Amino acid sequence: MRMYDIIEAKRDGHELTDEQIAFFVRGYVAGKIPDYQVSALLMAIFLRGMTDRETTTLTLEMMNSGDVVDLSALPGTTVDKHSTGGVGDKTSLAVVPMIAAMAPGEVFVAKMTGRGLGHTGGTLDKLESIPGFNCSLAEDAFIGCVRAHGGAIIGQTGNLVPADKLMYALRDVTATVDCIPLIASSIMSKKLAAGSNCILLDVKVGSGAFMKSVPDAIELAETMVAIGEGMGRRVEALITNMDRPLGRNIGNALEVAEVIDTLAGHGPDDLTHEAVMLASELVALTGICSRNEAERRARAVIADGSALAKLKEIVAAQGGDTRVIDDPSLLPQAALSRTVTAPRDGFVAHIDTEQVGIASAQLGGGRLKIDDDIDHASGIELLKNYGEAVREGEAVAVLFANDERKLAEGAATFEAAISYAGAEPPAEPLLYATVTRDGVQRA
Ligand code: URA
Repeated sequence: MRMYDIIEAKRDGHELTDEQIAFFVRGYVAGKIPDYQVSALLMAIFLRGMTDRETTTLTLEMMNSGDVVDLSALPGTTVDKHSTGGVGDKTSLAVVPMIAAMAPGEVFVAKMTGRGLGHTGGTLDKLESIPGFNCSLAEDAFIGCVRAHGGAIIGQTGNLVPADKLMYALRDVTATVDCIPLIASSIMSKKLAAGSNCILLDVKVGSGAFMKSVPDAIELAETMVAIGEGMGRRVEALITNMDRPLGRNIGNALEVAEVIDTLAGHGPDDLTHEAVMLASELVALTGICSRNEAERRARAVIADGSALAKLKEIVAAQGGDTRVIDDPSLLPQAALSRTVTAPRDGFVAHIDTEQVGIASAQLGGGRLKIDDDIDHASGIELLKNYGEAVREGEAVAVLFANDERKLAEGAATFEAAISYAGAEPPAEPLLYATVTRDGVQRA
C-alpha cells in the first residue's frame, strides 16, 4: 500500500477502505509517513468529507493508537462530559462535583481534560490557578481518587491518543480544523479512550464556537453520538448557545471563583441553568433515575452546599489549597485593571464572542501555542452581557492583566467586540436541541 494512492483516492472523492485508514494512522504514528503527505490527505478529507463508516474507522484507529483507560474497577457507572469549546465555559468544573454529590457510590466522574488554545479556555488551566492542584495523577491514583470521592479531573495522560496529538498539531497549521469528520474523530477517539460508559457532549454553536450554525452543530453531534453508541457507550449531545460568553467571568482564576459562587448558589442565571441542565442530563443518561429526579438532585446539591463541599473534597484529594474555596480572593489576583464603559445609552446588542476570547488570551490568559505560559490572574469580568441595558458611561466590563501592553491590547480587542443598539435585541435560548440515538429533539 502507498500513501500516495490513499491521497489520490480521497482527492478524487473515493471512499477509503478500513485498511487504507489503518495504514495512514498507524504509519503516521510510527513516524513512517511524513507530515506533508498527511497534510495533503487531511486537506483532501476537508474538501471531500468522509462517510460514516470512514469516520468511525478513523476514530477507532486513533483511539487504539495509544493507551485506553480501563475504568472497570470502579463499582458503578462511569460518566464523562465534554464541551467542544467556548468562552467563559467553566461548566465542567461545576458539573464534576455536582454529579459526585448527586449520586454518591452510583455514578463516578473520571474526567480527563485539556488546555485552552486560541480563543477557547481549557479546564486544566483553570484548575491550575488553584495553588498546589495536581492535574497529573498517575492512572491508578486517578482511579483511586474517583473511587474515594466520586470524581477527579486530570490532564490527558501522556500516551492517550497520540494520533490526535500529531494530527491536531498539523490541522492547526494547515487550515483543516473546522471539518466535521476530523473534529468528530478527534473528540470521540479521546472520549472513548478515556473509558467512561456514559458521555455527554456539549456542542457549542455561535460566534464563540467552532460550529457557527445550528445545522452544522447538529451534524457534528449526530456523527459523534453514532460513533459512541456504535461502540456500546451511551452518548447524548446538547446543542448550546455560544453567541455570548457563559456566565460573567472569562479567564482562569476568575472562572474558578465564579464556579465557587455558582456552587454556593450565587452564580449567574445562565451558568447555573446550564450546569444544572448538563449534570441532570448526564445522571439521567446513566439510567439510575428519571430526568426530573436528576434535576431535583442537581438543584438540591447546590441548595444544601453538598456540591461545594464535594469540590473542596476533590481539590484536597488532588493536593490543592482548599482555603480558596472559602475565600476566592486567595486565588491569583492581577496587579492591573481597566474598566470599559458604554459609549451610549441602549442595550448590548451583539457580542463577537470569539473576539472576547481572543481579548482574554491577549490579556495573558490564553496561548497561541500549546506550550506557551499563561497568566492565571488575567481575564475579563463582564458586568453587562448580551441583551442587558446600559447607560452612557456605565461600566460594561473590568479587564485584568499584569502587563500594561497586554492590558491595552486586550482592551482594544474587547471594545471592538461589543456592539450597542437602541432597541432590546431578541432573547436567545441557551439550548437549541438535544441529539440522542433516537434522533434530534429541538428545544
Ligand atoms: N476539540 C478537539 O478535541 N478536537 C477538535 O478537532 C476540535 C475541538
